[in-house]
Amino acid sequence: MTHQVRAVVARGKGAPVSLETIIVPDPGPGEALVKIEACGVCHTDLHYREGGINDDFPFLLGHEAAGVVESVGEGVTDVAPGDFVILNWRAVCGQCRACLRGESWYCFNTHNAKQKMTLLDGTELSPALGIGAFAEKTLVAAGQCTKVDPTASAAAAGLLGCGVMAGIGAAINTGNVGRGDSVAVIGCGGVGAAAIAGANLAGAAKVIAVDIDDRKLATAEKLGATHTVNSKDADAVEAIRELTGGFGADVVIEAVGRPETYKQAFYARDLAGTVVLVGVPTPEMKLELPLLDVFGRGGALKSSWYGDCLPSRDFPMLIDLYLQGRLDLDAFVTETIALDEVEKAFERMHHGDVLRSVVVL
Ligand code: APR
Ligand code: ZN
Ligand code: ZN
Repeated sequence: MTHQVRAVVARGKGAPVSLETIIVPDPGPGEALVKIEACGVCHTDLHYREGGINDDFPFLLGHEAAGVVESVGEGVTDVAPGDFVILNWRAVCGQCRACLRGESWYCFNTHNAKQKMTLLDGTELSPALGIGAFAEKTLVAAGQCTKVDPTASAAAAGLLGCGVMAGIGAAINTGNVGRGDSVAVIGCGGVGAAAIAGANLAGAAKVIAVDIDDRKLATAEKLGATHTVNSKDADAVEAIRELTGGFGADVVIEAVGRPETYKQAFYARDLAGTVVLVGVPTPEMKLELPLLDVFGRGGALKSSWYGDCLPSRDFPMLIDLYLQGRLDLDAFVTETIALDEVEKAFERMHHGDVLRSVVVL
């Protein structure tokens, strides 16, 4: 059997997305069919539409989603119909070299659904990050579904599927922020704001938010920043050093993805401190640093892929903290929109006044 559902499709480079009817097959072995309840609009969706990821048009966009499992294929035991799940793009394989050495948050061979979703004329769709959740229903590998407490709001929960998890994980997993640490976060969009929330959860004593937009700094304070720096008016490195006894922060998280801000992160950290790059650069960007400073300042320069998260470990835990009022996921939901408003949400992204627009179905 197949299902005909409405979905947001990007048909060609730079062309506005369109609401289309697509065909979703019933789940085969190892797959799950998920009825989507909410899906956040992420920069990566826009990147796909602009042809910045690859040329495999048409794309089925959307990947920060939560929903309810409608049916599962043969051999699926981890999730069952009726389960409330967050979708992830790290369904670990258990067999690659990362998984075998017990570091499955790096899994190099993650799973997606084997069967293809298609347009009505049979054209195969490429789902964004192997998910494709701006749709009434989507087909994924069962391992891409992580069961969480169903009392959580779907709009808030879905955000853990990508950007918010990347930010929280950059602080708690990659940066290994600990009790009493000083942390600076450069760039306080959805990802950076989540890093601030993560640093707080981990017990950081000082959390310095840096952005060039005062609106983002105001949200950062709401999520627990103890200090804010507008780096349009002030030198970010000097300001961070001044706020940390002249030394720099123990952990600096770069959540912009640019060489200038990476350099700020590099120099704003204390000796032997940690820099975490979670912002995603573009191919033409280059970084130049005195190698002597790389050696002389010591410590760790790390990248954070998807917050080094392990969905089965991190999603249920973070949803529990959310339900206990200790993690304000609702603060990331700037607006809820309908399925046919994704293009408008892309425009709003450029104005910088949203952390996340979330499609609610
Ligand atoms: N200095 C400080 N902040 C900056 C600078 C700068 N030079 N340039 C931009 N910013 C701020 C913006 O004002 C904005 O608040 O960085 C933030 C970026 O946030 P968003 O555009 O909302 O992006 P976000 O979803 O948070 O993602 C950030 O992480 O996952 C990656 O691809 C994503 O590279 C992007 C980054
Ligand atoms: Zn693996
Ligand atoms: Zn994303």
